[in-house]
Amino acid sequence: MTERQLIQKAKQAMQQAYAPYSHFRVGAAVMTKQGKVFTGCNVENASYGASCCAERTAIFKAVSEGERELAKIAVVSESGKLTPPCGICRQVLLEFMPEGSVILEQGEGGIKIYTVKELLPVGFVL
Ligand code: THU
Repeated sequence: MTERQLIQKAKQAMQQAYAPYSHFRVGAAVMTKQGKVFTGCNVENASYGASCCAERTAIFKAVSEGERELAKIAVVSESGKLTPPCGICRQVLLEFMPEGSVILEQGEGGIKIYTVKELLPVGFVL
């Protein structure tokens, strides 16, 4: 699956976003090293800290289905601006895709690609 196709999957997932508090809808699509795709959206909660980002929803879906080797993840929002993963999600990316890449949409049709190591150069590991 190409970068643009993965972005399209993330856009579809964004339609399921549950964001009544921030009104900031986010979608993500993660691809395993074998090419399987899992999608996710942000799921908010009245207790704000209980909310989950789209990236973690997608990654946790993959891991809970037995997939631990992830290659790339696409992230989009309705803002039209670059939507880079938050700090907590970067740490989760490091856990399951330390050599992976993050594909972000910039404006209409533009794409920016970062490695996970670029986004979290000195992440915590045990
Ligand atoms: N959010 C994501 O889902 N992913 C990001 O990369 C940034 C932030 C969500 C969390 C919350 O539901 C909303 O966007 C506003 O912060």
